[in-house]
Amino acid sequence: MFLLLNFVSSVNMSHYRKCADSPFCNRNRFIENSNWTLISDSSKIQSNYYTALIKDEDFNNNLRINISVLRYGIPHVRIENVEQDKFPRYNFIKEPSLINQEFIDDIEILSYEISENKVIVSSRTTKFIINPKPFDFDIYINGSRILSLNYNHTAVFETNLDKKLYPVLNRPPRFNNQPETIRNGPTSVAFSFKFDMFDLKFSGLAHHTLNLTLNPTMDDEPIRFFNTDINSYEIGNGMSMYGAIPFLTAHNRSYSIGLYWCNPSETWVDLDEDSSRFVSETGYIEFLVVVGRHNEVTRSFADITGYPAMPQQFALGFHQCRWTYMSSEELLQISKSLDESLIPHDSLWLDLDHTDDKKFFTFKHGNYKDLRLMQYELLKSKRFLVTLVDPHLKNDHSYNIFQEALDSGYLIKDNSNNTFYGNCWPGNSSWVDFFNPEAREWWSNLFNYSKYKDSTGILFIWNDMNEPSVFDIPDATIPRDTIHFGNIEDREVHNLNGHFSVLATAEGLIKRCRGDQERPFILTRSFFAGSQKYAVMWTGDNAADWDHLRNSIPQVLSLSICQFPYAGSDVGGFFNSPDNELLCRWFQVGAWTYSFFRCHCHHLSDKREPYTLKPGWRELARDAIVERYQLFPLWYTASRLANLTGEPIVAPLYFYFDDAEIQDEEHEVIIGQSLLVAPILEPKPKGKYIKLPQGEKWYDYRTFEEFTESYKRKDISSVPVYIRGGRIIFQKQKLRKSIGQMFLDNYTMIVALDRWKEAQGELYVDDGKTFKFMEGEFLHRKFEFQNGMLCSMEHETEKGSFDPYKNVYITTIKILGMKNPPFLIQCNDNKYEGDYEHGVLTISDIELPVSEDWQINFCF
Ligand code: NOJ
Repeated sequence: MFLLLNFVSSVNMSHYRKCADSPFCNRNRFIENSNWTLISDSSKIQSNYYTALIKDEDFNNNLRINISVLRYGIPHVRIENVEQDKFPRYNFIKEPSLINQEFIDDIEILSYEISENKVIVSSRTTKFIINPKPFDFDIYINGSRILSLNYNHTAVFETNLDKKLYPVLNRPPRFNNQPETIRNGPTSVAFSFKFDMFDLKFSGLAHHTLNLTLNPTMDDEPIRFFNTDINSYEIGNGMSMYGAIPFLTAHNRSYSIGLYWCNPSETWVDLDEDSSRFVSETGYIEFLVVVGRHNEVTRSFADITGYPAMPQQFALGFHQCRWTYMSSEELLQISKSLDESLIPHDSLWLDLDHTDDKKFFTFKHGNYKDLRLMQYELLKSKRFLVTLVDPHLKNDHSYNIFQEALDSGYLIKDNSNNTFYGNCWPGNSSWVDFFNPEAREWWSNLFNYSKYKDSTGILFIWNDMNEPSVFDIPDATIPRDTIHFGNIEDREVHNLNGHFSVLATAEGLIKRCRGDQERPFILTRSFFAGSQKYAVMWTGDNAADWDHLRNSIPQVLSLSICQFPYAGSDVGGFFNSPDNELLCRWFQVGAWTYSFFRCHCHHLSDKREPYTLKPGWRELARDAIVERYQLFPLWYTASRLANLTGEPIVAPLYFYFDDAEIQDEEHEVIIGQSLLVAPILEPKPKGKYIKLPQGEKWYDYRTFEEFTESYKRKDISSVPVYIRGGRIIFQKQKLRKSIGQMFLDNYTMIVALDRWKEAQGELYVDDGKTFKFMEGEFLHRKFEFQNGMLCSMEHETEKGSFDPYKNVYITTIKILGMKNPPFLIQCNDNKYEGDYEHGVLTISDIELPVSEDWQINFCF
């Protein structure tokens, strides 16, 4: 087992397949030519789908193309086999937890004509011009050509390729001397896309450790999607990681094209200057295309795959973890030490070794005494406990969870249809088959308080190792010839194992509630597009070095583009021990750029709770955490926007600014559309060049000094942060122990005027934990400064009310960028005084209810 023993952090590449080790990738990556012909006469429109037959001359197979156009002109194309295979290909598009079924079925009216030997399929917004022989086609949206498909005539769809006729393709593969069966023969698909866009750059394809702007891969390895346990991964590598979102974006300064390759089997992606090729082990050739402004494309991806869940508010706080706090006393002592250092925190975590002999849903009772008392202690400060629950079960007949799963047939089977056994933390183990709806139901019941003994309502879940990780075998994950529910081979669905595990856990956390239903909180290591509806993710087993710190930002950004807005890396790096400077910088980066902000490390790493830092570093780290808490209103409002519209919480600069200078910037980020954060990612820096998008006003977050262009900054002890002119943001200034404790605190409002002396912003509040917001129990307020008037009004998109906030006020207002002081500040009949200094007006003697409409006039 190479995970534990190898503490020196470097990935053992030989455990993981390269394209050349994978026969289907190897044969389909570079293909000279494939001969496909569309049979124009077979064209039909059926219920607004265009369909026609395609003859694959090479393999003598009949295929069918289906085309539809969804809302906003989104093309959906599927190429499938006409004669059924001898096995079920996984019908990905019909799975509601992955694809929003209402959206995919809401299609535009289509027609087609055949003209000059071309088939032209048109809807109101979108046109497909198909050349029948050799088969290729172009997609036009609103009159512009967006994509050319199969432009190089190299499409592949392997189906029903008889052993006798194709002995080589049917040969069972071997990797690292381990044979593997391919009972269904060769089944792979491949397709190429050319993007019609000037100056394009590729991004997306999360999760990898590549740059945000993806480089061509043709002279190197393709980018791989095959969810696995890839501990101590390398930076700048397209190797498989723990999660997969095959969503590629091409973008220039004005707009993006998003391409969603709807395939959960192992997939390799090549990129060239303006084209890409997807090769998957099985499934269909199926994809969706979205076009628009950069953030609109990410938002449309939420229309397709679902909006990210509204998190428990504590999810946005600071999380303290380590592998493992070994007793209740130790855990409470950590929390106490953080309190003594005035470091707010929202949860403490118990990793693997809290369990009795690695049996999940149990506690090592000798170590953890008074578990309920421990949880009660945390609750007193409105804090939470998170425990680790992995999907593998110890092969031990006295472990009733294993025995129940075995007796009920809920475990993944091997290729002979017997229970699959492999090695993981507990030694010999089996894996729950989350593709089985009954197994999911059974798993979800394990979270009942009566079953998960000593758990209480403040205990939430970390689903680790759910790729799933299997030790000592090639690729470090479940073999692809294992069998899931419905006689589906793992190879058909491999990248969805993690997705279905968190789906089951989320159901369990909702079902266990006795009173009001609470939102689940789950941290997952593995995921697919769609998992954002159930869980937050972190970037796995990174290492304590500056490269990992630096690369964590493009990782988080590419996840954001791919509609996974809750992400973060282990602060300090999982493997090894950071020095004081690195650790301090990492706390700053986490506090300012990770929507999921957790300190975690390997059990052999030195202690690294923030108070362990030497004086100087300690205060800087603490200040960053405190600033994160002060800005909770911004993070939470951004969460609601993500949940309502799919707008990213943390975004790359190019999302909102077309300034040529910042198009490749991947280490500065925008949070909540309002703040530009330029974290320090180098040791012993002598200042930092801050790139500020042109044409905007920027205000230093702490001093309110005004900037309009990029500059070299000298003081970089804390993270350089700038408020974007034109935005209104909110803070809660009072230092408290946790987010829960800040709930009824009053607000400071910061109005940052743009060059037209205007600004706007919004604020969202609800109870932070239940689903009552869906029944109207919330406040969503909008604020505007215009023509010398500051107004508070209800948000146009949703109207609610929230009684607990009747007596919560805005008690300080700061207006930045005011040329002159006003001679009168008036709200209804009340007059207010303000302090004016260097363009900043501060009104501190004020009490304006956040839940009500009001307006303040400023007379000059
Ligand atoms: C692997 C996870 O990536 C790591 O964070 C965790 O500490 C270990 N498993 C032990 O549970």
